[in-house]
Amino acid sequence: MGNSEMHLDGKSIQFPTITGSENKKAFDISKLRADTGYVTLDYGLKNTAVTKSSITFLNGEEGILRYRGYPIEQLAEKASFLEVAYLLIYGELPSQKELDTFTSGVTNHTLIHENMKKFFEGYPQHAHPMGVLASMTCALSSFYPESLNPNADEESIDQTILRLIAKTATIAAWSYKNSVGHPVMYPQNRLDYSSNLLYMMFAKPTEPYEINDKVVSALNKLLILHADHEQNCSTFTTRVVGSSQASLYASISAGIMALWGPLHGGANQAVVEMLQQIYDDGGASKANIDKWIARFKDKESGQRLMGFGHRVYKNFDPRATIIKKAADEVLDDLNIDDPLLDIAKELEYAALNDPYFIDKKLYPNVDYYSGLLYRAMGIPVDMFTVMFALGRLPGWIANWKEMMEDKQPITRPRQIYIGENKRDFIPITER
Ligand code: ACO
Repeated sequence: MGNSEMHLDGKSIQFPTITGSENKKAFDISKLRADTGYVTLDYGLKNTAVTKSSITFLNGEEGILRYRGYPIEQLAEKASFLEVAYLLIYGELPSQKELDTFTSGVTNHTLIHENMKKFFEGYPQHAHPMGVLASMTCALSSFYPESLNPNADEESIDQTILRLIAKTATIAAWSYKNSVGHPVMYPQNRLDYSSNLLYMMFAKPTEPYEINDKVVSALNKLLILHADHEQNCSTFTTRVVGSSQASLYASISAGIMALWGPLHGGANQAVVEMLQQIYDDGGASKANIDKWIARFKDKESGQRLMGFGHRVYKNFDPRATIIKKAADEVLDDLNIDDPLLDIAKELEYAALNDPYFIDKKLYPNVDYYSGLLYRAMGIPVDMFTVMFALGRLPGWIANWKEMMEDKQPITRPRQIYIGENKRDFIPITER
């Protein structure tokens, strides 16, 4: 730790400097207000580190993403989703025995309380599954009142973690079943996490369901690629809510809600809807693509090229590279000819060669191709963000756990008040 100096109102102030892994540097300004009366203003927290963390390393300039030090490319290629979940939550890759125990812990908690099944009857059929997932995740806490204590012993916390990973998959699948008016399918504990999720979504009691290994492998990859992304909006939300000592269920439910927005996880749905709009408007012809690119550059249009741009990645999003390749492979394997994929590629090419997108360093992000991959797997559009949430769950849990173990204080930022100075109340008859 070093020191850096700043001159303010004729005084010299020293700040401790912090150097993280990979030589990442920061000033610690936590005493600034106490020492000088000044606070810092940083809209969108674009330049503010809100915590120290040893979970995920991200270098937006070079397009690097690592979980606990392991490159995302290696994990996506070689690991299973539950293996990565264990790595994120507990810090190390599991031994075979640890993975077996963790996996059987998850599979043994896949059922949800039968009373919760009745909750689904209360939702209208067109209810967005993200709203259902967020509220049902919070509702889980009412069945496990002991989980309300976020400072419970390690064993209880581990139990809540297993329940969350297992039961959110069942809730997600059943919310889809509810939306199409089909009977729910109970989880099959003989199946791995991804196969079971597909089974609960697509099997019917009337006929046998064949699991397609290529689809399972693509889903496993997608879940891993989404599993953590350091201090993004939903992870920070999970930390903020958890910092008030609300339960883990409440904190995760808040994270799900933050993910729902189209500027965050909701972008995968928005991308496919945008591609469909372009398709309906004339398809992948050069004239049509040029027209839409011009619309995305025009701020007055209110439309952005969804799936492009990222707060942190200013070169390329390594997840997008892996997903683009997986989308090509899966569509090929399943013999699907999706005209939206052609539009996506033409649009990407046009944007990457346009000075507007080049100058602003706007590249495809994780959501640009993930929607097309979900679509090829038969997953309906409004379930895309739910799939993202299931993938991101281990990252939310890991961040919550890290924050609790670090005993971090409640998150409570400052503001700069710009409203009226003191004035006296005027009786209504005199206004
Ligand atoms: N299309 C057109 N213009 C864009 C786009 C886009 N997709 N993204 C950013 N810009 C422009 C902005 O208009 C702005 O222009 P200006 O400087 O002339 O005002 C400039 O690029 C910077 O954009 P900001 O919104 O200030 O950048 P920020 O870092 O706040 O936002 C964000 C990042 C929200 C991802 C943005 O790029 C965006 O809206 N992208 C589309 C939505 C999307 O794909 N979201 C998913 C992100 S990945 C994830 O959350 C999992």
